[in-house]
Amino acid sequence: MLRIINVVGARPNFMKIAPVIDEMRRRSDRIEPLLVHTGQHYDESMSDSFFEDLDIPRPDINLEIGSGSHSEQTARVMIAFEQVLLQHPADWVVVVGDVNSTMAAAIVAAKLNVRIAHVEAGLRSGDRTMPEEINRVVTDALADLLLTPSRDANENLLREGVASEKISFVGNVMIDTLYRNLEKARRSRVLERLNLPPQQFCAMTLHRPSNVDHPKTLAGIINALEAIGERLPIVFPVHPRTRERLEQFNLTERIQKSLLMIEPLGYLDFLQLYSNSRLVLTDSGGIQEETTVLGIPCLTLRPNTERPITVLEGTNRLVGNTPEVIAREAFAALDRPAGAARVPELWDGHAAARIVDAIEEASR
Ligand code: UD1
Repeated sequence: MLRIINVVGARPNFMKIAPVIDEMRRRSDRIEPLLVHTGQHYDESMSDSFFEDLDIPRPDINLEIGSGSHSEQTARVMIAFEQVLLQHPADWVVVVGDVNSTMAAAIVAAKLNVRIAHVEAGLRSGDRTMPEEINRVVTDALADLLLTPSRDANENLLREGVASEKISFVGNVMIDTLYRNLEKARRSRVLERLNLPPQQFCAMTLHRPSNVDHPKTLAGIINALEAIGERLPIVFPVHPRTRERLEQFNLTERIQKSLLMIEPLGYLDFLQLYSNSRLVLTDSGGIQEETTVLGIPCLTLRPNTERPITVLEGTNRLVGNTPEVIAREAFAALDRPAGAARVPELWDGHAAARIVDAIEEASR
């Protein structure tokens, strides 16, 4: 029996673990999975609603570490997860993505000599001012099995000296979740609730520290949004971090005038929303991939991306956070017909099966 501890912490982890847990449960004659939630995200709208929407089993253990500075958060996960790992001997710890919980759990597992499998290994933005880049580099340096979503990730890892036997190109597991839930999402009434006809609005998400933590930058982005909003309404489910910053910089009232601000949406509602939008504006990692698969034009408000395939093959364009560039590119995108979707290699809905195959294979 393989004992596997799966760790999640923050919103973008949940859609990655869902199909993996599912696949492990299907192999319950050989695999005994445990699910640990670090509690990095804890609001109903940032956490619980994803477990419900995606039918993820309740976590076996919740570490309830909550918010804090990066070091505080990482340290709290490490202290709490070490106890879990001491009490529940495991053959593997599976970590996903690039959030603080991912790196923290990987360090603990490495120190206790438990093998680590990293789902979504090898992505690099090359930008170490981005907290996630540090998490990616550290997690990959410690991982024993590096499960990559695209071939560029393999190249990054090989360049960093990772042995090729440890790397397995499995494809993009987020897309497993997307395909599995598309039909269900069509039953969401979110468009009716917000009174938005399909294709007649833009959807936006924004929460990166580089965009929302500096008043000048955030105000500049709002300038661009005001201009775009005159042409098509922009719906903005607001991340709690961004809501706090808008309040702190006295920008809430201004932004409310030109954007439709709503609470963060669950997985199914959000999928129904952006998949029916004319254009997506975002600084998220996963949304760049999801819009690529669905062929929805996407502008990423960042100077770089760890997911270059979404630009090379998909619908994504990097526009940074200069107001004039954001507005110009948005208008250009709205003037262009929305082009066909081109789905990258192995973003086929079967990544989870390949992930669990690779873990079983590496255990022999
Ligand atoms: C984290 C991830 C980021 C991911 C994002 C998705 C890291 C370094 N960052 O960023 O990669 O894209 O999640 O959402 O791990 N808060 C709440 N309720 C919650 C969670 C957070 O109110 O349930 C507020 C708190 O004020 C907190 C702030 O949001 O301080 C930031 O949360 P944190 O987990 O530190 O990082 P995110 O910005 O969410």
